[in-house]
Amino acid sequence: MVILKTIDEVRKQVKAWKKEGLSVGLVPTMGYLHEGHQSLIQKSVEQNDRTVVSVFVNPMQFGPNEDLESYPRDLEADAKLCQETGADIIFNPEPSEMYEEGFCSFVNMTGLPDALCGLTRPVHFKGVCTVVNKLFNIVTPDRAYFGQKDAQQLAIIMRMVKDLNMDIEIVGCPIIREADGLAKSSRNIYLTSEERQAAVVLSKAVKEGQKLIADGERNAKVILDAMKSMISAEPLADIDYVEMVNMDTMKSIDTVEGYVLCAMAVRFGKARLIDNFICNV
Ligand code: PAF
Repeated sequence: MVILKTIDEVRKQVKAWKKEGLSVGLVPTMGYLHEGHQSLIQKSVEQNDRTVVSVFVNPMQFGPNEDLESYPRDLEADAKLCQETGADIIFNPEPSEMYEEGFCSFVNMTGLPDALCGLTRPVHFKGVCTVVNKLFNIVTPDRAYFGQKDAQQLAIIMRMVKDLNMDIEIVGCPIIREADGLAKSSRNIYLTSEERQAAVVLSKAVKEGQKLIADGERNAKVILDAMKSMISAEPLADIDYVEMVNMDTMKSIDTVEGYVLCAMAVRFGKARLIDNFICNV
């Protein structure tokens, strides 16, 4: 496995692979890799001849008061995990390699980003779509892998690929959780031990929502109220949102029917954590 820092080096290697008729999988990440990322890399290694993992903390998707500077980084540990999991390249560019002076082209989307995380993070999805587009153009993968934990991001990327006729298969992969249910996230590192314990309430709320639906409840407000009161009972939890939306449109729903995303973002001290479940009723 090699770590490449420049776009030219990645292009050269991928071109050589394609000349040999090899398929290429891309796992876009911001690094500080955990078992969630590892499951994406594993899937790519299974489904493709070669796998590229990008490790790039993308400044464009952070708002002015967000955690760009403090976002955890550990390239050495990331390289070990990628090597052990069978990746072939880590693409780890500097911000100046991705955004040359004078950079002024963006990929923007209307509709889907105007909900859930997009409401409190207004520049986030423009930054995500732009960088993912650039990574797709640089790596030209056959398949790209994204986690369902960022369900809105996954829906947005699937829509972007469809709308812009990109010839790339997007593979969504399930949420990987700690033994007590907390969804794996690079941002879990921000939690104090008290907050870490409190954060388990998110997966408990997910289970409660799933149970109510399994028991036949179809009124979204009833389900959301039950989940919110469970989370609010935890003194360290500060709810950003708990919402139920149509998975294709990201519009709020009153009745649970069709393909539904139930998503939440909750702050515990410095950490803003997300969790969700998807159901098809
Ligand atoms: O999900 C992430 O880690 C990031 O949003 C992504 C897709 C790597 C783009 O920077």
